[in-house]
Amino acid sequence: MSDPAAGQNISSVLQEHRKFSPPPAFAEQANIRSEEAYQELWNRAKDDPAGFWADQARENLTWIEPFTETMSGEMPETKWFVGGKLNASAQCLDRHLDGWRRNKAAIVWEGEPGDTRTLTYQQLHREVCRFANVLKQLGVQTGDRVTLYMPMIPELVVAMLACARIGATHSIVFGGFSADAVADRNNDAQSKVIVTADGGWRRGKEVELKKAVDESLKKSSSVKKVVVVRRTGSSITMAPDRDYWWHDLMDAADADCDPTPVDSEHPLFILYTSGSTGKPKGVLHTTAGYVLGTMLTTRWVFDLKDDDTYWCTADIGWVTGHSYICYGPLANGATVVMYEGAPNWPDEGRFWEIIEKYRVSIFYTAPTAIRAFIKWGDDWPRQHDLSSLRLLGSVGEPINPEAWMWYHRVIGQERCPIVDTWWQTETGAIMISPLPGITPTKPGSCTRPLPGVVPDIVTKTGQSLGANQGGLLVMRQPWPSMLRTLYGDHERFRNTYFSEVPGCYFAGDGARRDEDGYYWVMGRVDDVLNVSGHRLSTMEVESALVSHPQVAEAAVVGFPHDLKGEGICCFVTLKQSDGDDQLKSDLVGHVRKQIGALATPDQIRFANGLPKTRSGKIMRRLLRDIAAGRESAGDTTTLEDYTILAKLRQEEE
Ligand code: WT7
Repeated sequence: MSDPAAGQNISSVLQEHRKFSPPPAFAEQANIRSEEAYQELWNRAKDDPAGFWADQARENLTWIEPFTETMSGEMPETKWFVGGKLNASAQCLDRHLDGWRRNKAAIVWEGEPGDTRTLTYQQLHREVCRFANVLKQLGVQTGDRVTLYMPMIPELVVAMLACARIGATHSIVFGGFSADAVADRNNDAQSKVIVTADGGWRRGKEVELKKAVDESLKKSSSVKKVVVVRRTGSSITMAPDRDYWWHDLMDAADADCDPTPVDSEHPLFILYTSGSTGKPKGVLHTTAGYVLGTMLTTRWVFDLKDDDTYWCTADIGWVTGHSYICYGPLANGATVVMYEGAPNWPDEGRFWEIIEKYRVSIFYTAPTAIRAFIKWGDDWPRQHDLSSLRLLGSVGEPINPEAWMWYHRVIGQERCPIVDTWWQTETGAIMISPLPGITPTKPGSCTRPLPGVVPDIVTKTGQSLGANQGGLLVMRQPWPSMLRTLYGDHERFRNTYFSEVPGCYFAGDGARRDEDGYYWVMGRVDDVLNVSGHRLSTMEVESALVSHPQVAEAAVVGFPHDLKGEGICCFVTLKQSDGDDQLKSDLVGHVRKQIGALATPDQIRFANGLPKTRSGKIMRRLLRDIAAGRESAGDTTTLEDYTILAKLRQEEE
């Protein structure tokens, strides 16, 4: 399959032949209804990107001043909608106040303890205006950075949109990060103000955010003011002339605040994301292109309608929450469900209870969550009425075909299309995904590029590869919602994404395209093994393992192997039983049978849990160290549960 001379080819061995057509009832009502309509949009965007995007931007964005040039400059320096002025918060709020949507629910929120709040567009607008005035009072000016380190409460969305309203750039730090991580990000962005809460609720325990902020401010001196939302009511210390209660400031603030007109390319937010090495990268997104990208993809991919109740389970601390809880859905005037806490609190039925209670129609979650649901058992979802659901989504990593099938069968009840959406913090918006009314889906494939997205699978020298040849996933054309730089390090931006493959944006993923033009993402290229001269995606071995009835989750890493170059080490968590030698050899046989002798695991290690980042990504770097019997070097600050690592080490023979 692979051509060793090409150097960068990756053997793709996952065979998946199941195919699911959109249910006719769904197809009939879909926003994009015909294959021809998709082809037409896609071809126009590819052949005449300036014309296509100018039309979309004029039709969908509310301009305070019109743009004069649609795109200027070569990738990666392309500027979009040059000369135009707009405001992202006005796009998400003010536009909806003229008509009936004024009194539509924008946010339907539920706290982990069970408290609830609903904010209509008008109410949300009012809160945003008031907080925008608060920020101004605290000395925040257009162009300044504001750090948001908050639980999943409506005030987080209010703070985001208030920053956007005055042209300040928000930098959201996920509430699960440590004080040190907050300090690093404050320092890198040179934030003036931080907005936080006393705490938030997670699995019945308080996450002490204000305490972490106090700690972080010892190391980050740019921050002069702290605004604290009272959420848990626990006792915290407030520093005079530095710390202010949200409610005190809001009570005194005026509810009128005109949106500040900003340039299309004005920085909207910075979001830090980890690279394979080095300090976190401050991915910078700008205003017009980002808002347009998230707005259109929400409508195309989630088939959003005015009467939908839409729930994305991500935390706003990650890009998924930025794009598909806040900007995309609100720009479309959607009703968004927002939930503060854990999926298994007070029990493993919480998500299904929320879907039943609010009659959620669109549900967007991650494979890591789906695998947890599978492990917890079908009884939890079966106890709830999920008949309101009409569309399911997945994001964050390749979804194992067996997890896809479970999602389809148990949650979607074989009625709901699944959109497996490929994109990245850097891309801003969904890039490759089914269109649920027209694209037949194949479990494990994110299918085809959206209009305006021109991907390719190439060798390191940029040569396109043929059907089913694994290679590097790149973008050949710029798109409006792409990152503009890594904050304060434009050189690293150019090096990371635009130097690997000449003339292209390199996503860092390996992938193949099948005979139908469907993309199959195999994971990050640094998760790729080289076994006996064949490149093999760890994810494909994992999928094979997870398709075994007793396996809950698997992580596969390479380790130095005398004969093969790299051997395959599998960390496996089981659904119920304890693993024994018999099961180990069964699993080895199972993988051989699923993929072939090439992928025969050298080691199977049973584990109670896998080390993950707080966003749920398995930290393979740590597992590689364990597999190789090395001490772990490097950064472990994003590790969710240190005890898992200690246990895995103890279990080493
Ligand atoms: C990386 C980006 C995009 C929001 C959450 C993650 C992997 C993401 C898929 C998918 C296969 C996927 C890729 C990508 N990824 N979605 N549907 N199928 N892989 O954002 O932290 O920036 O991570 O997540 O490897 O490069 P992120």
